[in-house]
Amino acid sequence: MENHTKLYDVGVIGLGVMGKNLALNIADNQYHVAAFDLDNVKVQGVLEQEQSDRVNSKQADQPLRVHGCNNLSELLSSLDKPRIIVLSVPAGAPVDGVCSTLIEAGIEQNDIVIDTGNSLWTDTVEREARYADKFTFFSSAVSGGEMGARFGPSLMPSGNIKAWDRIKPIWEAIAAKVDADTGLPIERQEPGNPVTEGEPCTTYIGPAGAGHYVKMVHNGIEYADMQLICEAYQLLSDGFQMSANEIADLFERWNQGSLNSYLMEISAEVLRQADPISGKPLVEMILDKAGQKGTGLWTAVSSLQIGCPAPTIAEAVYARAVSTQKTQRVALSQLLSGPAAVKPSDEERHTFIAQLESALYCAKIASYAQGFQLMAMTAKERNWTLDFAEIAKIWRAGCIIRATFLQSITQAYQAAATTGIELENLLMAETFSQALSLKQLDWRKAVSTAVLKGIPAPCIGSALAYYDSYRCETLPANLLQGQRDYFGAHTFERTDKPAGEKYHLNWSDAKREINKV
Ligand code: 6PG
Repeated sequence: MENHTKLYDVGVIGLGVMGKNLALNIADNQYHVAAFDLDNVKVQGVLEQEQSDRVNSKQADQPLRVHGCNNLSELLSSLDKPRIIVLSVPAGAPVDGVCSTLIEAGIEQNDIVIDTGNSLWTDTVEREARYADKFTFFSSAVSGGEMGARFGPSLMPSGNIKAWDRIKPIWEAIAAKVDADTGLPIERQEPGNPVTEGEPCTTYIGPAGAGHYVKMVHNGIEYADMQLICEAYQLLSDGFQMSANEIADLFERWNQGSLNSYLMEISAEVLRQADPISGKPLVEMILDKAGQKGTGLWTAVSSLQIGCPAPTIAEAVYARAVSTQKTQRVALSQLLSGPAAVKPSDEERHTFIAQLESALYCAKIASYAQGFQLMAMTAKERNWTLDFAEIAKIWRAGCIIRATFLQSITQAYQAAATTGIELENLLMAETFSQALSLKQLDWRKAVSTAVLKGIPAPCIGSALAYYDSYRCETLPANLLQGQRDYFGAHTFERTDKPAGEKYHLNWSDAKREINKV
């Protein structure tokens, strides 16, 4: 390790893929970084990476800006005060482990620790309070994976507003950038040559926990986006006998239109990839069991807890759960019958592709509507003021769900703001309600085809049920309330009486009297 001769601007603790790349990104933006990891090999790794980046970018004359530390005491004494420390360690106990060690090592009241992991938002709320008399615990969720962290992620900071004032210049420098005129990402992935122009994909989200909550919902939407694409893949391959390469071609084409997204783009690449071992499409050699780290599940749980309908997000979580039941699926595939496979004609395939494109777009609108409504309902409950136009804006680049679609959402919220009327549900935005009206018939046809062919499409289908439920002025919850009143005297409101007045019918009494309760 080298001797420190000056104080550094930012500390980074945890040099896994995300921490390492965040450290290099911060350094590319002229900040001096003191870096630490329990694993010294990772400390050496980031130093070597910076050196080789310099050589490759022909900037060997530039000073190295990342400096390795042997322990947290050394990291603290290397940093300019009040300190700014970025934590990039796994969510959960490791965050508190590092915080305790920092307290022992002498962290001070005015120092800021920024948790950038996928922490559970309620843990973040607790941590801010728990560490308040020792240091400022701040959080900033990060989206964009490895490459995002290195060349520009989407950053969702929340917590003490004074801390944000100090963090903001660094965050705006390292964040992904969007062209202000077009709303499109400015994509340049060159070490030593960060994107400095355009609008940064970061904005102060709100008090402690708000940023992690918003990131959690981002991930819920991400789960739905991914599953929708996967359902399209299964329908096209199993139902319409298209090869992985043909589907890759189609996804590439779709990526040029309203379905444009980073996830669509990488799905095409995944489908295109040949397996270096068997020569077959790699996707056919990847076992069909999906993992999950928990953020999609947390989103679904949160929606259930607060009573916000988010069926498409929940179905995406269930789809991963079903995928893990491989043994049962293999057994049941021999036992349960479905419709006989019918060879589709070219014309049928062609027609279905157009219907599916519409269905995906509509289902995407529905799942984003669910995610944004969930954030709105939680914000009301928590007394957060979330700016949804800003949230949509910072998701236009850098993050995993980045897509031109986010520009339409940004504009929908901006347009609503000019009228002063709150956009309670994205389905109400003119741009989306019109698209849905135009495409809903195709959506229905695509879902019917999936049902008739016996191919599961839980997200595309549940999104349609969500859409149809919101179109219903009257739902059968009247009967449901009747059932509840019958067996449990749970009462009901009447359509001809003021809201909030409760009535009960004495179901067991021969007279069947109705009483106001
Ligand atoms: C992102 C990703 C990132 C990560 C998730 C994946 O926004 O950069 O969402 O947070 O890829 O942890 O989660 P699963 O393992 O649950 O798919």
